[in-house]
Amino acid sequence: MASRRLFVTTALPYANAPFHIGHMMEYIQADIWVRFQRMQGHEVHFMGADDAHGAPIMLAAESAGKSPELFVAEIARGRRQYLEGFHLGFDNWHSTHSAENTELSQDIYRKLKAAGLVYTKPVEQFYDPVKGIFLADRYIKGECPNCGAKDQYGDACENCGTVYTATELRNPYSTLSGAAPVLKSSEHHFFRLSDPKCRAFLKQWLEAPGRLQPQVVNKAKEWLEGTGERALADWDISRDPPYFGIRIPDIKEEKYLYVWLDAPVGYLASFKNYCAKKGLDFEKLLQDPKTEQIHFIGKDIIYFHTLFWPAMLKYAGKPYKVPDHVYVHGFITVSGDKMSKSRGTGISPLRYLEIGMNPEWLRYYIAAKLNANVEDLDFNPDDFMARVNSDLVGKYVNIASRCAVFINRKFGGRLVAARRDFAFSAKAGEIAALYEQREFGKALREIMALADAANQFVDEQKPWELSKQPGAEHKLQQVCSVAINLFRLLTIYLKPVLPQTAAEAERFLNVAPLQWSDAGTLLPAGHRISEYRHLLNRVDEKQLDQLFDVASVPGVAKEQAVSDTISIDDFNKLDLRVAKIARAEALEGADKLLKLTLDMGDGTRTVIAGIKSAYAPEKLEGRLTVVVANLAPRKMKFGVSEGMVLAASGDGPEIFLVSPDAGAQPGMRVK
Ligand code: 2FM
Ligand code: ZN
Repeated sequence: MASRRLFVTTALPYANAPFHIGHMMEYIQADIWVRFQRMQGHEVHFMGADDAHGAPIMLAAESAGKSPELFVAEIARGRRQYLEGFHLGFDNWHSTHSAENTELSQDIYRKLKAAGLVYTKPVEQFYDPVKGIFLADRYIKGECPNCGAKDQYGDACENCGTVYTATELRNPYSTLSGAAPVLKSSEHHFFRLSDPKCRAFLKQWLEAPGRLQPQVVNKAKEWLEGTGERALADWDISRDPPYFGIRIPDIKEEKYLYVWLDAPVGYLASFKNYCAKKGLDFEKLLQDPKTEQIHFIGKDIIYFHTLFWPAMLKYAGKPYKVPDHVYVHGFITVSGDKMSKSRGTGISPLRYLEIGMNPEWLRYYIAAKLNANVEDLDFNPDDFMARVNSDLVGKYVNIASRCAVFINRKFGGRLVAARRDFAFSAKAGEIAALYEQREFGKALREIMALADAANQFVDEQKPWELSKQPGAEHKLQQVCSVAINLFRLLTIYLKPVLPQTAAEAERFLNVAPLQWSDAGTLLPAGHRISEYRHLLNRVDEKQLDQLFDVASVPGVAKEQAVSDTISIDDFNKLDLRVAKIARAEALEGADKLLKLTLDMGDGTRTVIAGIKSAYAPEKLEGRLTVVVANLAPRKMKFGVSEGMVLAASGDGPEIFLVSPDAGAQPGMRVK
């Protein structure tokens, strides 16, 4: 087959949080495909980047008290440990907050405008007069216009299911400041997706045979062909300041491109940045019809990648080219629990690595469960352990570990010619086709069937018995040579999934990095293998306990899901003060509570605190702590509590009272 040139990307992750298991699944899927293509001798450029812009990131940075630039740069610094840790071979990792992305996004905007596909019109929208910012629906709450339920978001009611627009909410308020929003008009820029030529192009693009998965074509066509209220509308591509994004060029007003306009351009920006580093001609490579542009994404962002993105590229014209394929995967669940984009799931990828679990186990398990459809995939710990232990250790590694010892000990590492008549080489084409189609689960089932056959051969030939039979030396060397050749072929087939293990196997086999075409050959007679070192360990049940029970391992921070982001104004509503515990006394009849008399600097207060299980009263007297000073007094069974002391606790019964460093004085404000 002629050599292909592939420009491959994964969806760009928002630069507001570390990676979760869902990111790892997508990157593993794409990485396996890319490694397979490289083994075929194809030229692959595998690009990633952070998606750095937009209002949520701007607001998160503000809450963290950082500039958005610093905020996203800090997130970016954390990426490497995941990418290297899981053997994800991106050629480049860039950011949408970059010179390349500014240039390319503005260029695309200008070209769309020149093509007559951008127009402006005023839009009336809710505005937060306190924060001075236009509010997206997710920042507006109020009472449902239908059932009156309180605190409903600006798009739909969680209580009765009614769908409405934010302006229909009763008593709306901004979740950023609590202020009542006001309607305000501003000029917005729109991309004319409703243009008949746009629709005609998209229809033809979507229907190109083999371009997209059938489920994806159906979904996209539903949107494209909607009529009436469901008709595909023009796309609002501008945002007003304050916004963290790319300026709309050539206009006097300060306006920004909507983040979803510049995000996919980040694929090209990363490629451009990479080409500059490698001395490659970006524009030439990008527009060359030979270059296949392929995006791996999740099912939640089909809309953007099959409608907006191809239309943008098509009508921006040269040097841009429409995507050749968009490959969509489902979500990952953990023991059946749906994962949420913001909270992730019970599995932390970093913790997985920290407790010494092998990244190739996860790559194998995910691959074994992946197919070419848009289906969700479940990580089940028992299934994970069973698959990895039985397939990788029990089948694959077992072949080498049972035979290498005889070749090394008795024959100085030398092989004899192996028979050529086994079906292993003949499977190379079939397995390759499955990898190409992203049918990884099927590919691995084929490979494991071969591993079963290889083990059966070893079981029947019993090299351990041959080694004790006088005169059977030649047979022993032959049997083990065949087995090691089979192991080499399995290594070729597993290499896209297990790059590290394959590299170690190549060292043991004493061969150059294996390519797919090597499946057509055998090791020559007289080839000398190296010492065998154990290639892969079994998954230990204890590791799975550690993976899920974060509290059990000292030194690893417990990752409780962090609550919703609040603004600095929200935080400032808390009046936290240093207080000295002047007296602490038990309360008759209360087995959990202590009555504390606190010296607040300017007077004393009584606070009733549930810390008796952890502290003897006399130990507390004289100690400093932190108190919420503006909490409304609460009448309790044992008296009125005029505030709350701060203490930490985990899943266990322990309680740890918070105290300031020495030198703090009662009454000082804590911020
Ligand atoms: O959904 C997301 O996580 C987006 N950050 C994906 C962007 S993909 C591309 F357009 F950059
Ligand atoms: Zn309702």
